[in-house]
Amino acid sequence: MKMLLTMVALAGLLLVPLPASIGQTAPQEFVEKPKYANLTFVPTADEVIAKMFEMAKITKNDVIFDLGCGDNRICFQAAKKFGCRGVGLDINPARIREAMDFAEKFGIGPNNMLVETRHGDALAVKDIGDATVVVMYMFPEFMNLWEPIAKAKLKPGTRIVSHDYSFSNWEPDETATVRSATREHKVHLWKIKKK
Ligand SMILES: C[S@@+](CC[C@H](N)C(=O)[O-])C[C@H]1O[C@@H](n2cnc3c(N)ncnc32)[C@H](O)[C@@H]1O
Repeated sequence: MKMLLTMVALAGLLLVPLPASIGQTAPQEFVEKPKYANLTFVPTADEVIAKMFEMAKITKNDVIFDLGCGDNRICFQAAKKFGCRGVGLDINPARIREAMDFAEKFGIGPNNMLVETRHGDALAVKDIGDATVVVMYMFPEFMNLWEPIAKAKLKPGTRIVSHDYSFSNWEPDETATVRSATREHKVHLWKIKKK
């Protein structure tokens, strides 16, 4: 009997989901069957992040969403530099754990009120309408799935900045080239217009 109880308790533990996010108050965004998931993680270089911030004209009043945030370095840097809020979402729980280390590195701490890191599908995020800036470094397949959501849910005035990749059928308002230590990168900017 004791053995059976132990097995039931262990099974229960295995079913406990990962924490949805750190340093956060928002609900869990995890979905079991995401429309898109490519776990390739290549962090954006600091020079490129600086250009993304410049093109989006970020201020402390902004709310940044990073769709596919990796270790959420972009939101942490923005919070540190401008004092603005940031929400990063990643489908891979390993990245969420790395974000905890980044929180420490940036002296922001896992219980901060500015940056939230969520485990979930960036295409299923329910409060994307709160964003004033959306950043991403995602392959074109994701961009094209995200385009109708962006057009339907983002408020006028919201800026989208993308590292390297663009939408197939939506021309950017601005494109810049920036050099990192390893190569040249593109940064694209779109502004959501009044409907
Ligand atoms: C190229 S990395 C970019 C990381 C970060 N945004 C940066 O620029 O430093 C792309 C990230 O997207 C995540 N990803 C892929 N599909 C996703 C999805 N459907 N929802 C959320 N994250 C996703 C991957 O796990 C990966 O960490």
